[in-house]
Amino acid sequence: MKKQTTILDIQRMKAEGEKISVLTAYDFPFARLMDDAGIDMILVGDSVGSVVSGYDNTLPVTMEEMIYHTRAVVRGTSRALVIVDMPFLSYQVDLREARLNAGRLIKEGGAQAVKLEGGENVAETIAAIVAMDIPVVAHIGLTPQSIHRMGGFKVQGKAAEQARQLLTDALAVEAAGAFAVVLEGIPMELAREITAALSIPTIGIGAGVHCDGQVLVIHDILGLCEKYSPKFVKRYADVSETIRSGIEEYIREVKGGEFPDEEHSFK
Ligand code: KIV
Repeated sequence: MKKQTTILDIQRMKAEGEKISVLTAYDFPFARLMDDAGIDMILVGDSVGSVVSGYDNTLPVTMEEMIYHTRAVVRGTSRALVIVDMPFLSYQVDLREARLNAGRLIKEGGAQAVKLEGGENVAETIAAIVAMDIPVVAHIGLTPQSIHRMGGFKVQGKAAEQARQLLTDALAVEAAGAFAVVLEGIPMELAREITAALSIPTIGIGAGVHCDGQVLVIHDILGLCEKYSPKFVKRYADVSETIRSGIEEYIREVKGGEFPDEEHSFK
C-alpha cells in the first residue's frame, strides 16, 4: 500500500534539502502514470485551458472545468499530493467567494490543496482559506492570470524595484500561511534569494536550479504542445510524432482493408 504524500512530507523535504518534483495533469491516465513513476505532487493547473481546451490563455477556465479535471486526476492518484488551481474570478472578488470556491475544489474535486496567483495583494485571501484548514500554494512572478497587466508572458523581477516587491510578496504569502510558493518566470538569482529567505518550499518554473522543487506542464515536456515552447521547457519525449504516425498507420490500414484482420475479429 503506497503512502499518501502530505504537506508535512513536502515541508520535511525542504528541511532535508530533498528536491520536490511536480508536474501538471488534467486526466486519469496521465495522473496514474506520473503517480506510479513517483512524482511528489500533481498540479491540476488552469493551464488546462491552453493545453487541453485550446484557449489562448487561462482566463476562460471555469470552476466546473477545474472540478471535472481534478476528479479525474484524483481517481488516478494513490500517492502524490494533488493541488488544484483556483481559476480566474474564483477568488479575486471577495473572501466569501474565495472560501466557498476553495472548499468546492476540495470537497467536489477531491484535491488536498489549492493554488492561487498573487503575493501581498492576496495574502488576506490565503489566510482566509488556510483558516478553513485548506492547504494553499501561492504563485508569484509571471502569473498567467495577469497576462493583460504584464503585456504578455514576460520574465518578471528583472528591475530592482520589481525584484524587491517579489521578495516582499514571497514573505507575505508565507506569513499568510501558504505551505509552498510557485516562482514562475523570474531570474535564477532572485529565485535563490527568495528560496533562502523562506522556510516554506519554492517550486520553480522558469526560475532556475536554486528552487526547492520544479514544476512543468506535462504536455510541454512530452512534446504534445507543438505551438510554442518556452526557453525553460526541456522536452523529455516526442509524443506528438508517435501519436501522429500511429494515427496515419491506422488510416492507411482502414483504407487498404488491412484492418481489422482475423486476429482482431470474432468468429
Ligand atoms: O496552470 C499551471 O499549469 C501552472 C503551472 C505552470 C505552475 O500554474
